[in-house]
Amino acid sequence: MRKETKDQLRSVRNVRVQQTNRQVSIITIIKTRKKMIERTLSIIKPDATMRNLTGAINSIIESAGFRIIAQKRVKLTIEQGQKFYEVHKDRPFYDDLCRFLSSAPVIVQVLEKENAILDYRELMGSTNPINAAEGTIRHRFAVSIDQNSVHGSDAIETAANEIKFFFSEIEIVG
Ligand code: CMP
Repeated sequence: MRKETKDQLRSVRNVRVQQTNRQVSIITIIKTRKKMIERTLSIIKPDATMRNLTGAINSIIESAGFRIIAQKRVKLTIEQGQKFYEVHKDRPFYDDLCRFLSSAPVIVQVLEKENAILDYRELMGSTNPINAAEGTIRHRFAVSIDQNSVHGSDAIETAANEIKFFFSEIEIVG
């Protein structure tokens, strides 16, 4: 075989090996990520606390393998509601959302589990209960998109900030 052809073959092989290595490391990242213990902030919202659903929702949460490592019942002021949902301040539903969150007591809690953030969002179901899958908290209990019974953090950084918003380190017992 000519030397140039051999070189070409070697270079194609090297690229394939690099691609395979990259794929292996992505799979490793996904597997590692899946095993990471995460914490997420959950809120049992006014529509649920007012219908005495705290225990029923906690039972679903615990049955799904989450550990409730911090929990308290609080009544937020409208200003605290506005601060918590600041990320939505330009959305048309912001005022109603903040008024609703501060309209009655809520249960704020820290949930811990492998992959807690995405798993809790799956357990809650779609924001709009019309689209929530059977077996999810919102499918079972939510009244509407506004009164959708529960909130859960949507990402690692958000979770850290939302947890800090309500809890000090000493209140979180893993
Ligand atoms: P939550 O997951 O707590 O995050 C923001 C909340 O805004 C959301 O649940 C809903 O209760 C409420 N909301 C009201 N209208 C909308 C909308 N059109 N899109 C998204 N969230 C909405």
